Amino acid sequence: MDFKHEVVELIKTQVDLPEDKIDALIERPKNAKMGDYAFPCFVLAKTLHKNPAEIAKEIAEKLSSDNFASIQAVGPYVNFSINHEKLVSSTLKDVLSEGEHYGDQELGHGNVPIDMSSPNIAKPMSMGHLRSTVIGNSIAKTMQKVGYTPIKINYLGDYGTQFGKLIAAYKHWGNEEDVKKDPIMSLFKYYVKFHEEAEKDPELDDEGRAWFKKLEDGDPEATKLWTWFREVSLKDFNRIYKELGVTFDSYNGEAFFNDKMQPVIDELKEKGLLHESRGAQVVDMGEDENPAIIVKSDGTSIYLTRDLAAAEWRMKEYDFTKMIYVVGNEQAQHFVELKTVLKKMGYDWADEIYHVPFGLITQGGKKLSTRKGNVVFLDQVLKDAVSLAKKQIEEKNPDLADQDQVAHDVGVGAVIFHDLKNDRLDNFDFDLEEVVRFEGDTGPYVQYTNARAQSVLRKAAAMGKEPSKTDFALDDEWAFAVAKDLADFPRIIARSADKFEPSVIAKFSLDLAKKFNKYYANVKILTDDEKIGARLALVKATSIVLTEALRLLGVNAPKEM
Ligand code: ARG
Repeated sequence: MDFKHEVVELIKTQVDLPEDKIDALIERPKNAKMGDYAFPCFVLAKTLHKNPAEIAKEIAEKLSSDNFASIQAVGPYVNFSINHEKLVSSTLKDVLSEGEHYGDQELGHGNVPIDMSSPNIAKPMSMGHLRSTVIGNSIAKTMQKVGYTPIKINYLGDYGTQFGKLIAAYKHWGNEEDVKKDPIMSLFKYYVKFHEEAEKDPELDDEGRAWFKKLEDGDPEATKLWTWFREVSLKDFNRIYKELGVTFDSYNGEAFFNDKMQPVIDELKEKGLLHESRGAQVVDMGEDENPAIIVKSDGTSIYLTRDLAAAEWRMKEYDFTKMIYVVGNEQAQHFVELKTVLKKMGYDWADEIYHVPFGLITQGGKKLSTRKGNVVFLDQVLKDAVSLAKKQIEEKNPDLADQDQVAHDVGVGAVIFHDLKNDRLDNFDFDLEEVVRFEGDTGPYVQYTNARAQSVLRKAAAMGKEPSKTDFALDDEWAFAVAKDLADFPRIIARSADKFEPSVIAKFSLDLAKKFNKYYANVKILTDDEKIGARLALVKATSIVLTEALRLLGVNAPKEM
């Protein structure tokens, strides 16, 4: 039940204001003792020619409802205190009857392309790409939960001058066997060596440029190598995606838009937006801003032009309602330019393009950089996380069946959860030991709490006890705290979807886990009395919501661990 809605309905019977206006006016008193909702009467003073306190008193006197323990005037406010038993029983009833669909809602509809992950081929996937992958994946699941149709696009960085350098490097030091054995590591080694050698011998750079030119002109050897590099890189990336449990609907990367840029350049010209500046073709961004470069002075097109082509193509292909780019904050200016140019081209749908930025991951306080070879290899991180999880499971629950699967869910889940629990714009330091802890604000803690709930249900079943389907009346404060969180879940999902912010759900799951553990510590759930069915209903509802919250984050919830 939506208690706020009940408040609106009650106020509506006494006050001549439209429903949405009432809804917007309702406040949540800071001090819960004052009530759970408050309606301020100031706006009515003018029309009723009375002071607000008087009005509040009159309204409060006329209202009564089973759903509220009290409805009272406090100064100029009408305060509503929720009937605790009502909240507990109506919430448990909703969660148990709707199951995993609890919290489903219709906030919007239509296609929503999500540009996410998008690593550069022949290079190790960075922590930034990991962030983009898991944030994008969670946003996709959340958007789906609230009615949209997400389309997960991996806009691979599979084109650019660096591939000329890579081909040159391969021709010098490459070895087919090595690339086959360990594609990204080998290709990356050549690439790093190229940069080292080029510092001593600038002619190498010319070679790189020449190979890129060949690639652009469709030279068979260059094309064959490039295709091969792309293929083996993607195979490597897919290993990581499989570990993370992330899939994509499209891998149309930068190369896919090679032949789609000229039409955009022509269109810009036709619309009179393009002009020359220092040999380059640019679009003006306004008075104090640098212009956006569309064609460089050497005639090559750039990142922005490609993204313009991609955006137009996606609009034609998907007719999207919104489009989301999950890309690091350091590219913020790029997306401002993208939106501005599209707007200038007369595309109002540019208003529905959202850059969803995120902060940096550091290690030992230091920035990670692919260029300098100072990288973290993600498959290694995931492997280490899984073996750390496995060690803890062996200590805590040596008889557990399916240990490898659970260790995988916990280890990988820990890395994902750690990434999602902070506001996405926050920078954070990566410390694996901390990530995989079973206590504190970690994924394993939430998973462990859910497994604990499941274990209670198993023990109850062994006693022949089931969660009640009709009696949910619990009046202790710990049950109320849990139920209040459960009742909030639909609103939490809506907020997370609205802000493209998975941390809202992650923080909620930590809070619910804590409230449930307090309940578990203070109440004897399995005592065989007339309330055992209601208590088990609370346990089951908690497990349903924790499992669904974790699912929305892209984290599995083992039933035992
Ligand atoms: N490949 C780029 C990088 O690694 C990210 C691409 C982001 N998406 C986009 N449409 N520009 O920096």
